[in-house]
Amino acid sequence: MLKVDPFDPAPDVIHRAADVIRAGGLVAFPTETVYGLGANGLDAGAVARIFEAKGRPATNPVILHVYDGSRVLNVAANWPATADALAARFWPGPLTFVVPKAPPVPTVATAGGPTVAVRCPNHPVARALIRAAGVPIAAPSANRSTELSPTRAEHVLKSLNGRIDMLLDGGPCSGGIESTVVDVTGEIPRVLRPGLISVPMLEEVCGRVEIGAKDGGVSRSPGQMAKHYSPRTPVVLCRSNDEALALGTEFSRREWSWGWLSFGEVTEEAAVVPMPADPESYAAQLYRELHTFDEVDIDRILVTLPPDTPEWAAVRDRLTRAAAPG
Ligand code: TXA
Ligand code: MG
Repeated sequence: MLKVDPFDPAPDVIHRAADVIRAGGLVAFPTETVYGLGANGLDAGAVARIFEAKGRPATNPVILHVYDGSRVLNVAANWPATADALAARFWPGPLTFVVPKAPPVPTVATAGGPTVAVRCPNHPVARALIRAAGVPIAAPSANRSTELSPTRAEHVLKSLNGRIDMLLDGGPCSGGIESTVVDVTGEIPRVLRPGLISVPMLEEVCGRVEIGAKDGGVSRSPGQMAKHYSPRTPVVLCRSNDEALALGTEFSRREWSWGWLSFGEVTEEAAVVPMPADPESYAAQLYRELHTFDEVDIDRILVTLPPDTPEWAAVRDRLTRAAAPG
């Protein structure tokens, strides 16, 4: 594990990490969303190592991270006009495009499919690493499959220690949840995974947007199984703080210990974490709180759901998956 300044990464550290990537190894590094587990995206053996380290099913394709928009034609067979317009507004940043794949992209990266996911991240460490490596970097979130994504280097260690070659510790990730994944292979862009770039933000640039995976065909997002982003502790969702409080009282009667992510301030209760009332701050904090609850070894995590509105879609998606039964 090497410490690195998140705003101004030291070139010698970046070059050591880039050497590992070029040699076919695995480097975990910070992005503006969550930590990624990186490998040379054009090296089938290196990408296969990511799947092995994560215990990731071979059916779940990975995102290739590029330095800038001028590099996408190394990995995409064509680049639709919608992707151009959206990239002009949101890249570098937390937006991933699903596009037709170019021949150099190994099939292990696309899970054998005809499309590839591409993102240009906005974190100085990620950018420096991609540039120094000189190749697109394949990087899923740096956690064991189905577990919570890491927003700090300690989370990566907890999940992947001993399974990877290097970890760049650039401190906490500012975004806190994963990028928005949008399929631009069809006429109308389709959001396969809600994320920090919301549907209203996308629609401002490209008009109508569809939501959710189509059955079959290239719009399937194989990674979107219900159980995902889960802490080890069972999560119970509640529609209101009152409902959560009633459930907590019931848990206490059964002698279960419990923690609670309330929505906004509530009157003082045992392990209550009042979560912010704006979606961006909430997202930035969410995984850290869930990781912390896992560490203190409680019986249940109660969560009051934020409102069912477009701005909250990504946070609600992650909470729903965190609570999905295994
Ligand atoms: O913010 C992020 O996107 C982070 C950072 C590291 O960049 N990465 C990330 O990767 O969350 P991962 O592998 O945990 O999630 C990638 C998602 C999965 O749901 C996967 O199924 C979907 O993108 N995906 C990848 N390639 C795809 C493709 N060709 N078609 C449809 N979905 C795809
Ligand atoms: Mg993931």
